[in-house]
Amino acid sequence: MARRKYVVGNWKMNGLKAALDEARAIFAGAAEHAAVDVALCPPFTLIGAMADAAPGAAVGGQDCHAAAAGAYTGSVAAPMLADAGARLVIVGHSERREGFGESDADVKAKAEAALAAGLSVILCVGEPRDVRESGGAIAYVLAQVAGSLPAAFDPARLAIAYEPIWAIGTGLVPTVVDVAAMHGAIRARLGELSGPAAAEAMRLLYGGSVNGDNAAELLDAGDVDGALVGGASLTAAKFLPIVAAAA
Ligand code: G3P
Repeated sequence: MARRKYVVGNWKMNGLKAALDEARAIFAGAAEHAAVDVALCPPFTLIGAMADAAPGAAVGGQDCHAAAAGAYTGSVAAPMLADAGARLVIVGHSERREGFGESDADVKAKAEAALAAGLSVILCVGEPRDVRESGGAIAYVLAQVAGSLPAAFDPARLAIAYEPIWAIGTGLVPTVVDVAAMHGAIRARLGELSGPAAAEAMRLLYGGSVNGDNAAELLDAGDVDGALVGGASLTAAKFLPIVAAAA
């Protein structure tokens, strides 16, 4: 079965209640592209309000704790996200791996906790600039995939997002040839790890400086099933052209 395109907005630490109007406009515009799955991941504080403001829409978190509850001041557990109305969660974003010292094992535990809570997962991987420049990007990312992949999962509920760190928020993007090579390598590795059927069913998203001008080309690259979008997901005017490019 063909994989449906998936375009996800990661609002990072942006968005007050006033931004809910923008979210409503995004989901209303996205509804015109029935062939594309669209989700928004706002900060924790907006998840419940956004899910209420756009009934039926896919709203998600940007991180979760690996434990289901407990003495973890400041953290949010996957069942809490689900309870607030989230359907999905991003785990392993490079801003978490680098800024909060999350290891592959941490990311794997978070992904498993999210799946157990009934959420879908977007698991992020991606290499830093020096690794890309030294020619080691594919090996680096494949090691992240192997180390972060949940032990068991429904491939319909787990997507991998390849986000080269040097492309995030910089306006730099890899060549389409490099994106296709990386995504092809990830899918092949997933086949070895989880079997060909799971690898074929899983969606692989590209993230890093995606915008309305480059989305069509990137989304057309081999083994690219969608996009994980940061800055350009904050407004309907910038995000909906990306959704349209995926349709
Ligand atoms: O998770 C999305 C992200 O890291 C890409 O950000 O702003 O380059 O689209 P941006």
